[in-house]
Amino acid sequence: MKKITINDLMKWKQEGRKFASLTSYDASFAQLFEQQEVPVLLVGDSLGMVLQGQTDTLPVTIDEMAYHTRCVRAGSPNALLLADLPFMTYGTPEQACDNAAKLMRAGANMVKLEGGSWLAETVRTLTERAIPVCAHLGLTPQSVNIFGGYKVQGRDKERADQMLADAITLQNAGAQIVVLECVPASLAKRITEALEIPVIGIGAGNVTDGQILVMHDMFGISANYMPRFSKNYLAQTGDIRKAVAQYLKEVEAGTFPGPEHTFE
Ligand code: KIV
Ligand code: NA
Repeated sequence: MKKITINDLMKWKQEGRKFASLTSYDASFAQLFEQQEVPVLLVGDSLGMVLQGQTDTLPVTIDEMAYHTRCVRAGSPNALLLADLPFMTYGTPEQACDNAAKLMRAGANMVKLEGGSWLAETVRTLTERAIPVCAHLGLTPQSVNIFGGYKVQGRDKERADQMLADAITLQNAGAQIVVLECVPASLAKRITEALEIPVIGIGAGNVTDGQILVMHDMFGISANYMPRFSKNYLAQTGDIRKAVAQYLKEVEAGTFPGPEHTFE
């Protein structure tokens, strides 16, 4: 796979070419994903749940994120590599810079942070200092204690309009990708059409420019848990490489996510 940059994603958006991405936490899977030509990888703070067995992402530290980012970069030199800034590591622009620098030094190409317009100054500060930013809106898991659980976001008109306004504000502040998690497909469509930058969805319907899944969910690793919006590709194919290839194929064709994986 040739080196993937934000310019490729911008071009794919303009061409209407859909792309898939996966979370990744270690070098071996990252290498397998690169061999299957997964263009975008995310070191998600979901590692608190799928690697550490915590009940939410809040305990994850910046040093843990940097460690896993280094592992993934070693396995995949060419994917566009995003890494999450974990809970309370970007409360101020200065704190965000210090922590984002650790992820960039570990090999990330872009950092992701959760929240709306209040982050505009932070996004501007980071991008002016050469740190690309992905903004994560909708069900932002670090806010689980504010939401009172993992619930679909933006169902009423007021919240939906606010999310669209937040996305535009963050794009104007310099964000280069938006991730939308667990939002109605109609809202995801409005936001995807309104933005010039690529939108990557998870539980946001097949209308976004890209899709992402937590790798453990797409392999069906957790025996008693599968989010409604995810799909077990290993059950379907019986082979890890074929599972990844099938996921990429269905995303590119627009057949995943289907209506059964989508909120309205
Ligand atoms: O941490 C994570 O895995 C994420 C994705 C679900 C977008 O943020
Ligand atoms: Na995350």
